[in-house]
Amino acid sequence: MKLKDPGLLREAAFVAGAWRPVRNDGATVSNPANGERVGEQPMLALAEVEQAIESAHAAFGAWREHTGKERAAVLRRWADLVMANADDLAWIMTAEQGKPLAEARGEIAYAASFLEWFGEEAKRGYGHTIPEPRRGQRIKVIKEPLGVCAAITPWNFPSAMVTRKVAPAIAAGCTVLLKPAPQTPFSALALCVLAERAGLPQGVLSVLTGEARMIGEAFCESHLIRKISFTGSTAVGKSLMANAAGTLKKLSLELGGNAPFIVFDDADVEAAVAGAKASKFRNAGQTCVCVNRFFVQRGIHDAFVARLKAAVADLRVGDGYAEGTTIGPLVNHAAVEKVERLVMQAIDAGATADLVVRAPAGGSFYAPTVLTGVQPSMQISREEIFGPVAAITRFDTEDEVIRLANATRYGLAAYVYTQNMRRGHRIERELEYGIIGVNEGLISTEVAPFGGVKESGFGKEGSFYGLDEYLDSKYICHGGVA
Ligand code: SIN
Repeated sequence: MKLKDPGLLREAAFVAGAWRPVRNDGATVSNPANGERVGEQPMLALAEVEQAIESAHAAFGAWREHTGKERAAVLRRWADLVMANADDLAWIMTAEQGKPLAEARGEIAYAASFLEWFGEEAKRGYGHTIPEPRRGQRIKVIKEPLGVCAAITPWNFPSAMVTRKVAPAIAAGCTVLLKPAPQTPFSALALCVLAERAGLPQGVLSVLTGEARMIGEAFCESHLIRKISFTGSTAVGKSLMANAAGTLKKLSLELGGNAPFIVFDDADVEAAVAGAKASKFRNAGQTCVCVNRFFVQRGIHDAFVARLKAAVADLRVGDGYAEGTTIGPLVNHAAVEKVERLVMQAIDAGATADLVVRAPAGGSFYAPTVLTGVQPSMQISREEIFGPVAAITRFDTEDEVIRLANATRYGLAAYVYTQNMRRGHRIERELEYGIIGVNEGLISTEVAPFGGVKESGFGKEGSFYGLDEYLDSKYICHGGVA
């Protein structure tokens, strides 16, 4: 692999402060664009996972004693190292995840932004003083780190979802056990190499590769782990919640979505198309906040569809390393089959597909598709597509579209395009979602709280809300104060 620093590609897990190489237990990671082998990750045994949990527990006592400023310094160095090694980290990400190199570089900057932001927030774990109800008392609330936390991260953002969970935990004074997705372990392991170089003490972070169910169950059952943060499917989130009930853990669950993108007749059509393209086709449609359902008002429908098709025609599907590629492969062939099934069902039920761009043969590519005449009853409107398909439904009235947009069990992100700001303010209150973009298709940033409602989960990531997820509030009452 073309790396300036080959030491960043580690075919080893990081357990209790030591690198544990592949022995006779390696599982191969392949590039979804061509099936080529990227490397082998160890499949850790339960005893090794337990050893990592013990070491995180042992390291917690010392790490929590570091001041916020000291923790901030480590996170700052880590952020700088990530940016200094951005080319290599992007290269590793494209190899295992498939996204175009430029998009991978963008994700590395996004990942570093969480390290930088939470480094700054490490100094701000503010508590409160509360006016006493009785004379002679003093009441204060102090913030304390939760303890050992576990993070389970997805393959679609192999670096940014790691730092979005690990950075606030470390900033708060917690220690962390990270289980990256089996498809994309090397991005997480490369970040861990840099964390070690940044001076993160032994045991504060372990990166555990191996069988997802076994590691997840070990996390859930451990009395030493106080919290699990998970990004992934709603089905797995529910099962983690059930399994974590036995030890009453805190959870942050960032789960599936079914994002509506509403375009009113009075929208700026160019802005709406730019937002639609950015939100729908980012990461080949494989983000939890990607548009899943377009609702376009009758008067602007044809103009919007024509402009969107023209914009989609500029996309280039291919190997993430190839010059000019804007859409990489889907994560695997099963993902392609799922998208194909949803599109075929929609066509059978009366929708019309426009294939504006071709996808290369081989690999797990899927050609960006614009689908019109989609009905809310179709499966494609109810299931998360997680692929580059824009499914468009026509609507007539504001009341109708609010009802349609909210008619889902999910509630992560929603988008609205209108130039009537009174309507914008009205709709943002009506939509049952955790994140709303009004005339904006790209809502992800380290400074704002990312998270959903309903079956999209709970808990916030990013922003000062994100730090609070890793802190407990301790109430202290002093009596006999003169
Ligand atoms: C996700 O898909 O889970 C995260 C997307 C983002 O941070 O924008």
